[in-house]
Amino acid sequence: MSNNKPRIAVVGATGAVGREILTILEQRSTPHAELRLLASPRSAGSTLPFKGQSLPIAALAPNCFDAVDIALFSAGSTVSKEWAPKAIAAGATVVDNSSAFRMDPNVPLIVPEVNPTALPKAGPRGRGAGIIANPNCTAIIMLVALNPLKRAFGIERIVVSTYQAASGAGARGMDELLTQTRAVLAGEPAVPHLFHEPYAFNLFSHNTAIDPATGLNAEETKVIQEARKIWNDPQVRITATCIRVPVLRAHTESINVTLRWPSTEEKVRQAIAAGPGIRIIDDRARNSFPTPLKASGQDDVLIGRIRRDESLQGGFGFDMLVCGDQLRKGAAQNAIQIAELLIAQGR
Ligand SMILES: NC(=O)c1ccc[n+]([C@@H]2O[C@H](COP(=O)([O-])OP(=O)(O)OC[C@H]3O[C@@H](n4cnc5c(N)ncnc54)[C@H](OP(=O)(O)O)[C@@H]3O)[C@@H](O)[C@H]2O)c1
Repeated sequence: MSNNKPRIAVVGATGAVGREILTILEQRSTPHAELRLLASPRSAGSTLPFKGQSLPIAALAPNCFDAVDIALFSAGSTVSKEWAPKAIAAGATVVDNSSAFRMDPNVPLIVPEVNPTALPKAGPRGRGAGIIANPNCTAIIMLVALNPLKRAFGIERIVVSTYQAASGAGARGMDELLTQTRAVLAGEPAVPHLFHEPYAFNLFSHNTAIDPATGLNAEETKVIQEARKIWNDPQVRITATCIRVPVLRAHTESINVTLRWPSTEEKVRQAIAAGPGIRIIDDRARNSFPTPLKASGQDDVLIGRIRRDESLQGGFGFDMLVCGDQLRKGAAQNAIQIAELLIAQGR
């Protein structure tokens, strides 16, 4: 800590999430005394722009976390598992975007709009708080949308179907969609490399491994398990189907929710509208609802198509369409909000 401002390291600064972290740190003017950019040896020696300057990028190396207060990790699980303990040993608090530590019972999994009190209390100055995990992007967007309903009416069951963007798979995911789209428009075949199916003008089941026992892919399992952990509600019933669609940025989710206590569409709408980090776009007359393009680059989760599920008697069931920028609220922005909570604690 220098002048009560933290020294921040961004691990994976050159990636899709890492670049968004830099954009948001600049936009929010998050206080910091130093910004240290780290990536693989491939990027070492190059620079990234920040506030009109060119910041150098270094490779992860011994001593790279010396004097760092907060380390924002976005370089995948393997890097987090190896380097997060080293950052902590050097005295930093790690906010980790990977899935490496999310389900560790000793690691808090935080969405600031939902469970900020799960953040550990500040310890002695100069001592880190260990690892804080940033949840899965699809889970974050769903929880921001549904938390106001959970608080007001309780939630029994969720059926969520997703339409997930290429950038959820990082910079290479976006490249693959763009390259294949250009190829198909030029009359050439779409050749898959990163994904298991052609992406241009197509959609497919999420590209994570399927558990043969449950039939769930890893993305679906993360949404279910992480939502239960964040809400501290192991009983909530959730079923998920996760699909990649040929969209560059921002995930969409069709959500059907069964409330514990019945309500009306008006009360549900009011509860959602009062929730933090939410903007309602629900203009039936103009057929104007959330879209990934409207959500791209936005901090808020967009919600529309709010309506009663008439297939359930008694006002228990409701449907909605939700869009959120998964590079921002689903990753970089959520991590920076956690960092800002840490800074407010004086870490
Ligand atoms: N994309 C999303 O929407 C999203 C949402 C939530 C969470 N996440 C998580 O965030 C993490 C990053 O995702 P991303 O989408 O930003 O991926 P990405 O675009 O592929 O970027 C990966 C980053 O990790 C760096 N890296 C790779 N191997 C490294 C190594 N051995 N040592 C140091 N740095 C290394 C890369 O550096 P080089 O450029 O030098 O290779 C790059 O900066 C992943 O854990 C992902 O699961 C992503």
